[in-house]
Amino acid sequence: MQFQPLSDEEFEWFLKQLNIKFGIDLSGYKPHRVKRRTEILLKKYRCESFDEYIKLLLSDEEKKKEFIDKMTINVTEFFRNPEKWWALRDRYLPILLKNHNFKAWSAGCSSGEEPYSLSILLEELRAPKTAKIIATDIDMNVLAKAKQGVYEEQSLVNVPQSYLQKYFKKLNDGKYQVSDAVKSRVQFKYHNMLKDPFDKDYDLILCRNVVIYFEVEAKNELYRNFASSLRKGGMIFVGGTERIFDYKELNLELVESFFYRKV
Ligand SMILES: C[S@@+](CC[C@H](N)C(=O)[O-])C[C@H]1O[C@@H](n2cnc3c(N)ncnc32)[C@H](O)[C@@H]1O
Repeated sequence: MQFQPLSDEEFEWFLKQLNIKFGIDLSGYKPHRVKRRTEILLKKYRCESFDEYIKLLLSDEEKKKEFIDKMTINVTEFFRNPEKWWALRDRYLPILLKNHNFKAWSAGCSSGEEPYSLSILLEELRAPKTAKIIATDIDMNVLAKAKQGVYEEQSLVNVPQSYLQKYFKKLNDGKYQVSDAVKSRVQFKYHNMLKDPFDKDYDLILCRNVVIYFEVEAKNELYRNFASSLRKGGMIFVGGTERIFDYKELNLELVESFFYRKV
């Protein structure tokens, strides 16, 4: 079957239907990326129109999950960009933890490797049990995996041997389970950072490798909201390819690449 490229009007219609029928709002995401990925799925299921594909999504829960997966991309690992995590542990967390009600947010936490990495560092620094991490994502599948806390060896490549021994248990099937102490600091929940309200007074916000999928305006608005959710002295930790260009206007200072502090 020859696949006909779909028009922008049809695509607009498709985006509206996603919102009306499934509550999926992709308006802040880069449109050609969403369109390209959707077209691949249409081809895969031999749908000739977005209408046909919407009907398929309505009739098949698995296909709906697959669609969300493809749009969001959940790639992650423990201690992604390890040297920055060691900087966080050695230089910034000791200062941030002077606040006894330390509260962190891992926004776009995927299957939990990021918030658990932070939790391991809190354990290492003997942070009080009241030091907590809220971890959020829009993908319910990854959140379910995160709550289990069981990982393949490949997501643990950056975990130092001593941490592996202290904070993981090797299971019979060769996978690794994070310890209860590490788990107990993290609370996972659904949250759409482009839509839902933000909590206040965070000491640390991690938002890494998420905004690459967002349009410039959505991204700028997001960083504005993050900045106002930090307490004074609180920090934002971004991903390897990410920058907050207008950080000064947001009352942030660039501490070193990847780290911003609210002044
Ligand atoms: C590539 S993963 C990054 C995971 C982790 N932060 C890291 O750096 O390893 C991106 C995650 O962001 C989530 N995400 C995308 N859009 C989101 C939104 N609007 N609100 C919350 N999470 C979102 C995706 O579901 C996905 O799990």
